[in-house]
Amino acid sequence: MSEKAILEIDGKKFEFPIIRGTENEVSIDIKSLRSATGGVITLDSGFKNTGSCKSAITFLNGEEGVLRYRGYAIEDLAENSNFLEVAYLIIFGNLPSKEQFVKFENDIKSESLLNEEIKNIIDGFPKVAHPMGMLSSLTSALTAFNPVTVDINSEKELYHAVVKILGKFPVLAAWAHSKNKGTPLNYSDNSLDYISNIMQMLFRIPTEKYRLNPITVEALDKLLILHEDHEQNCSTSTVRIVGSSEAGLFASISAGVSALWGRLHGGANQAVIEMLEQIEKDGGDVEKYILKAKDKNDSFRLMGFGHRVYKNFDPRARIIKSYADEVLKDLNINDPALKIAKHLEEVALKDEYFVSRKLYPNVDFYSGIIYRALGIPSEMFTVMFAIGRLPGWIAQWREMRLNHEPIGRPRQLYIGENLRKYTSINNR
Ligand code: SDX
Repeated sequence: MSEKAILEIDGKKFEFPIIRGTENEVSIDIKSLRSATGGVITLDSGFKNTGSCKSAITFLNGEEGVLRYRGYAIEDLAENSNFLEVAYLIIFGNLPSKEQFVKFENDIKSESLLNEEIKNIIDGFPKVAHPMGMLSSLTSALTAFNPVTVDINSEKELYHAVVKILGKFPVLAAWAHSKNKGTPLNYSDNSLDYISNIMQMLFRIPTEKYRLNPITVEALDKLLILHEDHEQNCSTSTVRIVGSSEAGLFASISAGVSALWGRLHGGANQAVIEMLEQIEKDGGDVEKYILKAKDKNDSFRLMGFGHRVYKNFDPRARIIKSYADEVLKDLNINDPALKIAKHLEEVALKDEYFVSRKLYPNVDFYSGIIYRALGIPSEMFTVMFAIGRLPGWIAQWREMRLNHEPIGRPRQLYIGENLRKYTSINNR
């Protein structure tokens, strides 16, 4: 007998099916709510209690600090896998065989050339344009050069769109960075693996031989694994809802880039390092900034702290914090920001304000310290997050389309004026 939830409104009872997930999460299926009750809807600003879909991609348990991609623990994947292999897992559901991985990697490389006319768009940006704004525009512009919308009933077409965006997106990101630096645009080097190629596109200058540092390549590879998916976060939900209107994959991902840019979401990694620099400039007075973060009259927030879902440690933050120590030691870098970050964390996690609100460091709190050690400037931190999150956006878009999810169109509770008559301007 299927489980039911009972809702009572004005003395009338209504039953709704209870659906359990494979990790025993419980949901109430309210798809019949409005028709069964004659128009009653639920209200849940920010969707804090509302599931938008069923998904088999990522499982996270915010209370216990658990994160798994397709059933594999994030700690296991970060330790043993690599970015592109995890991308295959997230998108197609299983770890690839050697042949599948080699084909996937080669198909992506074959798509890493951009249409030369894209340079005209880059020329049109001012040098100081934020790279996230350029990346969102350039990703959307890909539709101009690839106008055919993917037929999702064709596995071949869908696969081709997947490898195309994985091949082109990091080149667009690197070209945005070159625009900011005023250096020549680097092409993809298909003799390199995915992450090494990103490093050479970001940093190579034509007058010098570019030397890859295995420590920085490994650090970036592991860091980006931790960013690959995170179930229905703001930017992924954006990719899904844009795609639900049957907008193309590139247009949907362009929207996801814009959503990620916000400082409450992916933009936080840039805001964290700016905050740490401000505290350092201010003599390292951590207590002063903890007080500011707690002061309701002060708009200052402890960036990189708190999370909508994690009410325990963000497992990614724990891994990144240990990586930060390792990478800085290996690269022989002493970054005062790391010491300030650790001090902030130590003071905050002893403070009732943060403890009672279950505010812990999130994925963005320490990541900027590693990006900076790799020579990546702070305005590019969220672009790196986008490169990391691309496989998740693709996987979620693909799952939504293959499941033939309906177009996303939430309801609202109207609280405006009741009916009133027009009056001419002379009588107002
Ligand atoms: C990411 O959703 C995902 O999965 C996102 C992400 C992913 O991988 O896709 O994990 C990536 O976006 C991580 C989050 C990065 N953002 C930041 O670090 C920005 C700083 N953090 C906050 O703005 C906030 O914690 C959010 C946006 C992350 C979560 O906000 P919620 O869930 O809406 O919580 P809230 O704003 O309602 O806060 C609850 C309370 C409030 O105080 P009270 O009204 O109860 O008195 O906690 C306070 C907030 O004022 N609070 C903070 C705080 N975060 C929450 N107070 C000070 N500093 C903070 N950082």
